[in-house]
Amino acid sequence: MIFTVAIDGPAAAGKGTIGRAVAARFGFRHLDTGLLYRAVGAKGGDPVAAAVGLVPGDLEQDGLRSLAAGQAASKVAVIPEVRAALVAFQRRFARADGGAVLDGRDIGTVICPEAEVKLYVTASAEVRAHRRWLEVGGDQSVVLAEVRERDARDMGRTDAPLRAAADAVVLDTSEMTVEAAVARAIAVVEQAMEGRG
Ligand code: CDP
Ligand code: CDP
Repeated sequence: MIFTVAIDGPAAAGKGTIGRAVAARFGFRHLDTGLLYRAVGAKGGDPVAAAVGLVPGDLEQDGLRSLAAGQAASKVAVIPEVRAALVAFQRRFARADGGAVLDGRDIGTVICPEAEVKLYVTASAEVRAHRRWLEVGGDQSVVLAEVRERDARDMGRTDAPLRAAADAVVLDTSEMTVEAAVARAIAVVEQAMEGRG
């Protein structure tokens, strides 16, 4: 069965949390595509060469979840040649047999416009920064500034900017618990599966 769930949205909206839960519920594979860009940013040197030469082991190194790795990722993510080098891997993952969940910024718009389900997960910048701060600690105002800077870069770039696909279901989790957000996402997927018969 080929079935793709595309989850896009800004930093710390809950994409990964929802993606993992949806994948577990339906037995689908899950790919956090942000890790690809984080790994390219962490490699240093020429980002295009880093993207072309990326191997699965690069996604397992420590430190990729840090704020600094997120900033480095969004800087290399504006480079069209970096994005192009990562497309084929993501498309194969999305359309291989067995069902797949991918979360990122451009899954429903660029990587898999034919996805059976598209979710755009968002929340206010303040709520998202607070969530990230609970994970990484430090100065909360610095985390908020970092989130805002990354949002602006991701939404403002020319190639594959962050935006909701026209046919995406928008899920604002600002005032939702993780459980409620996951339940809503699962309901959307179930409805799409029933619609296919
Ligand atoms: O993948 P993304 O950066 O969009 O977010 P995440 O890493 O899945 O989630 C960020 C944090 O927000 C996690 O610690 C979640 O437990 C928390 N959270 C959430 O994802 N959804 C809510 N409705 C409430 C909190
Ligand atoms: O977890 P969080 O939402 O904070 O970030 P992430 O999903 O790990 O993505 C890190 C950065 O990679 C983003 O700020 C984007 O600049 C870039 N990215 C992208 O351009 N396209 C994707 N499909 C995924 C991530």
